Amino acid sequence: MNEWYKEDLAFIHDAGFSDWALKSVPGILEILNRSQIQEGLIVELGCGSGLSAQEFTKADYKVLGIDISEAMVEIARTRVPDAEFRIESLFKADIPPCNAVISLSECLNYLFDPDNNSQTLIQLFYRIYNALIPGGVFIFDIAEPGQVISQTPIKNFTETDDWIVLVEKQEDRDSEILTRRIITFRKVGEHYRRDDEVHRQQLYKAADVTAKLRRVGFEVQTTQSYGQFHLPKAHTAFIAYKPA
Ligand SMILES: C[S@@+](CC[C@H](N)C(=O)[O-])C[C@H]1O[C@@H](n2cnc3c(N)ncnc32)[C@H](O)[C@@H]1O
Repeated sequence: MNEWYKEDLAFIHDAGFSDWALKSVPGILEILNRSQIQEGLIVELGCGSGLSAQEFTKADYKVLGIDISEAMVEIARTRVPDAEFRIESLFKADIPPCNAVISLSECLNYLFDPDNNSQTLIQLFYRIYNALIPGGVFIFDIAEPGQVISQTPIKNFTETDDWIVLVEKQEDRDSEILTRRIITFRKVGEHYRRDDEVHRQQLYKAADVTAKLRRVGFEVQTTQSYGQFHLPKAHTAFIAYKPA
């Protein structure tokens, strides 16, 4: 078992932080429809617990989900038995020929994957471009610098009857790295079980990502929302088409 999105954080993310995945789907289905992609294979990178994969499956797409977290994929496999899921780094995984590639909720930013760096990011864009059919689309979002404005760390928490999650966030201006220290308490029987994770994210400027995508050959649009779902501050979504 790797050290990120372990059992308790995977459970809490699935139970308490489903909005991004679920509320983005209607807007993404509209984009696919507009792009004449009404069927075929969607490859979902950083598919998490399969929340959006389930919606894509309901809309009659085939789904291949790829995620580095065993615990997330375990939930996804139970939730969406009709989809295929692989536990792998998205920076290394084989991407089969497909109609769309989708990656929701800042999956490309995470540095806990040692295979994530500026070189593998551009290689990923090439791999996706080569896997997509002509007219296929790559839809994803990233976190940008400006997540934490203050010099001091920001702390917040979310609680329910079954779990509590505490998060401390700090952004290094020079390296443009965000560090999130995450402490979870999950009720197990009469007691709460504690777990700790530290997630570092490389933050990317939208203009730099757009330039990289264009260099690969994509036609790129950017947006701050998927349909009615507005991304949190300092995030941008990309709709990158492989020309038909
Ligand atoms: C914030 S969660 C979002 C999950 C899902 N897309 C959603 O919206 O609910 C980020 C996910 O990306 C996965 N992830 C991050 N970096 C990854 C990598 N390099 N390769 C594969 N999965 C990765 C994590 O394991 C986690 O499941």
